[in-house]
Amino acid sequence: MSTTEEKTINYHAFVDEELGKMGLKMELITEDLMKKDLRKFSKFINDSFEEYYEIYRWRKHADDDYLLNPLTDKFKFSFCIKDRNDNLVLADFASVTDGKINHHIIFTSKEYRGKNLAKYHSIKLCQTALENNYKELIGYFSRKNNRSIILHLKLGYEISHIREDGLIISSADIKTVLESAYKMLTESKA
Ligand SMILES: CC(C)(COP(=O)(O)OP(=O)(O)OC[C@H]1O[C@@H](n2cnc3c(N)ncnc32)[C@H](O)[C@@H]1OP(=O)(O)O)[C@@H](O)C(=O)NCCC(=O)NCCS
Repeated sequence: MSTTEEKTINYHAFVDEELGKMGLKMELITEDLMKKDLRKFSKFINDSFEEYYEIYRWRKHADDDYLLNPLTDKFKFSFCIKDRNDNLVLADFASVTDGKINHHIIFTSKEYRGKNLAKYHSIKLCQTALENNYKELIGYFSRKNNRSIILHLKLGYEISHIREDGLIISSADIKTVLESAYKMLTESKA
């Protein structure tokens, strides 16, 4: 990609247009939205925790405290995707720690997995982070979560260490992830 082309890409518009074609819409999870849709978020996330309990031992802990916790700037960097009927099809939480974007967790609904929603989300998160002068992302993966690990390594995350409890900690250059996601999405169309 040339520097001139890079400067002219409107990543937010790209995401909005491409999701629009699928009848979907990305929204910032503000505190007001979370309060309004608290039960919806809780069910959506707990359903995923339950689905993967046997593999990752994820507990259904998406209660009010978890969803409304005051992590730094969580309501500035967390996004969801909804369908035409206002159903959640993706939910993601990110916040800021030590000058870096902490990418805590992402869920795509069963019927939408493999349809690139996490890649569109990466573009939105990275572009928003760059506009706020952040350069680095930190990501977390359960050891057995091949799908998420493969996706994020392809996007440019690098494993930095494995915690004693087995959680994989990774980091990424935000601009690299943005460009990789955009390339993966635009090249797959050719
Ligand atoms: C991980 C997850 C968020 C990815 O979201 P998604 O919207 O399906 O992701 P995308 O469609 O953008 O990308 C899918 C990528 O996953 C990987 N993938 C897909 N199916 C896979 C499979 N069966 N095995 C391994 N990797 C697979 C590929 O890298 C694929 O990219 P490709 O389409 O370029 O080949 C989603 O699978 C999910 O919600 N899983 C359950 C909850 C979870 O594990 N969350 C992550 C916690 S860190």
